[in-house]
Amino acid sequence: MSRNYPPTVDAVLSIRPAAPADRTAVEAICVATGDDGRDAAGRYDDPTLLAHLWATPHLLADPALATIVEDHDGPAGYLVAAADTVAFEQWCEQHWWPALRQRYPLEAERRDTDRELVRLLHAPEATPASLTDRYPAHLHINLLPRLQGTGLGRLLIERLVTQLQHRGVAGVHLGVSATNEPAIGFYRHMGFEPEAVEPDGGLIMVLSLT
Ligand SMILES: CC(C)(COP(=O)(O)OP(=O)(O)OC[C@H]1O[C@@H](n2cnc3c(N)ncnc32)[C@H](O)[C@@H]1OP(=O)(O)O)[C@@H](O)C(=O)NCCC(=O)NCCS
Repeated sequence: MSRNYPPTVDAVLSIRPAAPADRTAVEAICVATGDDGRDAAGRYDDPTLLAHLWATPHLLADPALATIVEDHDGPAGYLVAAADTVAFEQWCEQHWWPALRQRYPLEAERRDTDRELVRLLHAPEATPASLTDRYPAHLHINLLPRLQGTGLGRLLIERLVTQLQHRGVAGVHLGVSATNEPAIGFYRHMGFEPEAVEPDGGLIMVLSLT
């Protein structure tokens, strides 16, 4: 996990902490990779819902753990994370969900796929203590296809692991769709192990940092 691994993409300009101005780009990357690594735009009437749930709040809650990869065409990948998932979920209840719940009323007519995401932002499931006790942190990582397979995924995970270890965090978990085999293979290769299967079939994977 700790060896140096310079990415092989010459075009990468910077790997840097995220700034508020990255929000639109992060939303676009989330959508462009949101269907098991493929473009999810066609699956939703409002695909930005994906970012509202799994990317944007992290930029605001703990920007120091949000990393942007930029190439000559601009931001092309990100890793976002929460060091303390319980505190992050409390932050979302206070600062993130209220405005979205007003913007996306539960009772409005929607496509089935959009309705499921809106349901989640009205009633997010708390991560169980059995997971957060041992693996308090969680992450999301998404690279546009032009940056995939170049060593950047490893670099971003290793950067986060170092940051979390400096904060004394015991472990990190993530959720991945059971059908996203390339990502599951990547996480396994990076040392994550399957921990649980979610009711929707998603896989929870964990990495101990102690
Ligand atoms: C998943 C993702 C983050 C991986 O990043 P990446 O830059 O493509 O991966 P890397 O090139 O850094 O690979 C790192 C290592 O994992 C290995 N690896 C990558 N995919 C693998 C796989 N499916 N099976 C086994 N090993 C794999 C690589 O060979 C490499 O090994 P090495 O460093 O020991 O030589 C990236 O492909 C991505 O963003 N995909 C689309 C979005 C997505 O699905 N995100 C996950 C949502 S949960």
